[in-house]
Amino acid sequence: MRSCSCLLILSVIFLTLSIFIAFYQHKITEIACKNVKSEVEEIKRKPKYILHLGKEGSKTLSAVDDVLQRLGLEKINTTGLQPSEYPKDWDLFWSFAHHDRIKTQYDFTTVKFNQKLNHFPGNYALVSKSVLATKTKLKFIPAAFLTSEEVQNYAKIHPEKRFVIKLKGNRGVKLTKPEDMNFTRTASLDDYFAQEFIEDPLLWNGHKFDFSIFVVITSVNPLRFYYYNKNVNLRFCLKPYNTSNPDDVHSYVIGTEIFPAQEFPGAREYVFRDYTYRDAFEAFMKSKGANLTEIWMKVEDLITQVVITKEKTFFEGIGNFGTPKFSHFELYRFDMIFNENFDLFLMEVNMSPNLLASSKISMHKYFFESVLYNLFNLIGIGTNFEQNEFKFPSVDVELMVAHPNGMTIKPEICLSDTCINNCDDPICNICWHCLNVNEKFERILAYREQMNLGDFKRLFPPNREVFNKLPINLVEENLLEETRKHVEWFFEMCKKNNKFC
Ligand SMILES: *[C@@H]1O[C@H](CO)[C@@H](O)[C@H](O)[C@H]1NC(C)=O
Ligand SMILES: *[C@@H]1O[C@H](CO)[C@@H](O)[C@H](O)[C@H]1NC(C)=O
Ligand SMILES: *[C@@H]1O[C@H](CO)[C@@H](O)[C@H](O)[C@H]1NC(C)=O
Ligand SMILES: *[C@@H]1O[C@H](CO)[C@@H](O)[C@H](O)[C@H]1NC(C)=O
Repeated sequence: MRSCSCLLILSVIFLTLSIFIAFYQHKITEIACKNVKSEVEEIKRKPKYILHLGKEGSKTLSAVDDVLQRLGLEKINTTGLQPSEYPKDWDLFWSFAHHDRIKTQYDFTTVKFNQKLNHFPGNYALVSKSVLATKTKLKFIPAAFLTSEEVQNYAKIHPEKRFVIKLKGNRGVKLTKPEDMNFTRTASLDDYFAQEFIEDPLLWNGHKFDFSIFVVITSVNPLRFYYYNKNVNLRFCLKPYNTSNPDDVHSYVIGTEIFPAQEFPGAREYVFRDYTYRDAFEAFMKSKGANLTEIWMKVEDLITQVVITKEKTFFEGIGNFGTPKFSHFELYRFDMIFNENFDLFLMEVNMSPNLLASSKISMHKYFFESVLYNLFNLIGIGTNFEQNEFKFPSVDVELMVAHPNGMTIKPEICLSDTCINNCDDPICNICWHCLNVNEKFERILAYREQMNLGDFKRLFPPNREVFNKLPINLVEENLLEETRKHVEWFFEMCKKNNKFC
């Protein structure tokens, strides 16, 4: 009897509870949903980007656009706007042409350190074909001349040499006799110069070819740069090599019309079966008797030496432009050729390399997109923590990603009586607690880049062994002060963490 009434009471309670729950179910759901919703609303803005195309048309940046969309960035609609009307709250301003071109319409001096620009002011020293060719005194760059007197005088001393005359860009490259060279500019943008012709290019199935490497500079003073080392871009002359008819440029100039690598015998078999153009290139070089270790050492040495000679111009350029030095990064394509002795020559450096996989090079699509994806990861635009702009959202995130304890060096000095409590002695300059805010930030960026290398390989600062092989005068004449400190820091970091070697 007692147990029965007990059961009854229990049932009543249960029933009441059920009705209560059923009745309030929608309320509970509503409250829960509201909470979720307000959390969603609280997820702050996404980083925003501007794609500035200039006159170059809308297609050229579509790969950049696609990759940024996939990384979750928000595009600022600039359709119909003049640069002067662009919103200021962008986080990345990607421009096809140099930002310099629109500086009278858009004030770049208001740019903040965490806003990113995809070009370096002062980059003309590297990307202007005539400046690169005539002002870089390195063995990798064939002699070049800006006037007919210069080229004719040189030709008298070297009667065996031939020369090409070049216009800005790849247009109009042509073998020409020195006495026939006419440097008269027909339009202000036409930038003529003459350059020694590489007589014995290495031929692949009878065709002249070049190969290109994607390089990214992420910082100057201190200087840091990397190259994409998973793949190389290959381009072949349309016709077999033959210089007997200078007018037939398709047989000796790698110009705008090329034999697409994905169809070229010797390369196509590789990419068709999911190998890279780099694999094809290596197999070809090996078949010619080249030592691949040495080939890659040459490629890395060329890029390193060329970029080092430009650091000063870059740094001065930033000063003149008035932007924070942390804002700039730039992606380049270095176009190079080998001769038959495997000597390497730099032909040009492009600051807005083609990343558009046209139908003729459709198999480059994921190659180009991978370059961009890895680039954005490297510089912190693509990351796996949530960010609303390109700086650490909180101290907790900063210390989680790049804690000073991963970056401190030489405890025997920094914890010594001389340095532990003050920084007066210059030997303490390397201690974390003696660095200024900028120096700390530079090391944080360098550390993040090292952790996010992906398919990039660091070229500079190199490890000690490679650094010591660089020509001494090159290092002495070119490296800026912060860069020298950075190099030393990397050497020490290599002892602490072999990822830095
Ligand atoms: C961008 O802005 C233009 C001009 O205001 C407008 O016509 C267009 O629909 C906008 N595009 C998008 C994708 O919102
Ligand atoms: C050089 O080129 C300019 C412009 O095309 C032309 O006016 C001039 O006659 C040329 N000079 C010679 C010597 O061919
Ligand atoms: C190169 O071209 C010339 C004329 O344009 C031709 O006579 C010659 O046979 C060609 N040489 C080769 C190796 O094809
Ligand atoms: C290739 O070159 C490297 C560096 O010079 C050398 O150590 C290595 O023995 C060479 N390999 C061959 C197979 O010759």
